[in-house]
Amino acid sequence: MQALKERRHLYPDRFVPAHNLQQSRLPVLQQNMARRRLVLFPLPLQGHQTPMLQLATILYSKGFEISIIHTYFNSPNPANYPHFAFHSLPDNLTESETSTEDLTLLLHKLNRNCAAPFRDRLARVMEDASVACLITDVIWYFTQAVADTLDLSRIVLRTNNPSSFMAFTYLPQFRDKGYLSAQGTQLEEPVPELPPLKVKDIPRNYTRHPELNDAMANMLMETSKASKGLIFNTLQELEGSSLSLVRQHFNIPVFAIGPFQKQVKASSSSLLAEDQSCIPWLNSLPPKSVLYVSFGSIAAIDQTQFNEIAWGLALSIQSFLWVIRPGLVRGLDGSVPLPDGFIEMVMDRSRIVEWAPQEEVLGHPAICGFWTHCGWNSVLESICQGVPMICLPFFGDQMNNARYVTDVWRVGLRFEHDSNRQDIEKGIRRLMVETEGKEMRKRAIILKDQASLCVAKGGSSYQALESLVAHILSF
Ligand code: UDX
Repeated sequence: MQALKERRHLYPDRFVPAHNLQQSRLPVLQQNMARRRLVLFPLPLQGHQTPMLQLATILYSKGFEISIIHTYFNSPNPANYPHFAFHSLPDNLTESETSTEDLTLLLHKLNRNCAAPFRDRLARVMEDASVACLITDVIWYFTQAVADTLDLSRIVLRTNNPSSFMAFTYLPQFRDKGYLSAQGTQLEEPVPELPPLKVKDIPRNYTRHPELNDAMANMLMETSKASKGLIFNTLQELEGSSLSLVRQHFNIPVFAIGPFQKQVKASSSSLLAEDQSCIPWLNSLPPKSVLYVSFGSIAAIDQTQFNEIAWGLALSIQSFLWVIRPGLVRGLDGSVPLPDGFIEMVMDRSRIVEWAPQEEVLGHPAICGFWTHCGWNSVLESICQGVPMICLPFFGDQMNNARYVTDVWRVGLRFEHDSNRQDIEKGIRRLMVETEGKEMRKRAIILKDQASLCVAKGGSSYQALESLVAHILSF
């Protein structure tokens, strides 16, 4: 795996005294509420850390004090959050362990290595302050036992969406039914338990330890059920039926309070430096003329697929901004060789960056479409800006998300990993210039409006957030 792992350095623990809070840009709401402290524990991967820090910012605006406990690996930068207290935690992972392609193994080791230091860290925070509640990523399953020992309420944040969460709950059953070893045309069969998924959409991670995968799936579910509540970065209007299923299945309070992206300023939680040079370039281009291409923080492809993507982009004759992250091409940590003749063909209508200010890019008027791996943050960020998508899912929840984008919300089309340059050229043109793409854009704008309305006063996410605050204050 080429998870982002640039920021291994340590930041000193940091505590900001209460008088500094007045200087914050954030409104301090609920003046009558005594400020109570929440401890949040993000998983150290970009797609998980960003939403946890966004949640922290939202809860801070609701009057809570915030402590973040974080691993050394991919530690957040406290300077971007001067109003939070940060506490670092040794994770005892080696460089090679954090670079593994085996995400399951990495998550298992994180849970194993962090258990004892996390307990000590949390106990020390609790000695210094009255902690109302612990909020952790669902994947930190060991923390439920710690919370129980310390007699502290724990709420979990699922950074993926409710539909994929349901699919994860079924994993052991799906393995027993043979879905996970399906091949060929079987992959196109529907999954009767969870329509509209097909067998190929069931979450799967590359791992040499499938037994760990199932054990972890079980532990996630059991420890989530034992928690005091489940938070999703989504909205009722988008995923009402999946939320109902989760409520039936888990029998704990469920809070759909997203999109977080609509409630906090564009992310300052990037683990790689954002290349801002693409913004002046976008400024120089006509509205709705550029395809933004990014496959998130972990997904990797081989050189052959990379070349087909490059030629598909070139043949489409559309302008594009392409994020070629270090590690995007398997086995190449440094710069990736572009095919001969490619640059000459696209230089007057393209930009390539290693990491983009994605939310800003998606909100730019020049952007017409987003070719994405369908990580949940990317999908939601695209929806928040009314941008239709081309989906190329890789692993985990991404296939599930792609199915919802194409078949349920109908705001995108899908590529397969064996799509060649001609398929890609055709697909890009379908999205960027043909009527089909224009229809998708119209539907994406409707979703964007729903995403704005739900966080406004009286909206579904607004109300769910009020309920969450009341729930926390009841502990
Ligand atoms: C991982 C999994 O791949 C995904 O399936 C799961 O839903 C969340 O965790 P990741 O690959 O990091 O996600 O994708 P995603 O969830 O889309 O998050 C990527 C984040 O990085 C987004 O917030 C995006 O704005 C940001 N990003 C990406 C940038 O800021 N710049 C870039 O160039 C690319």
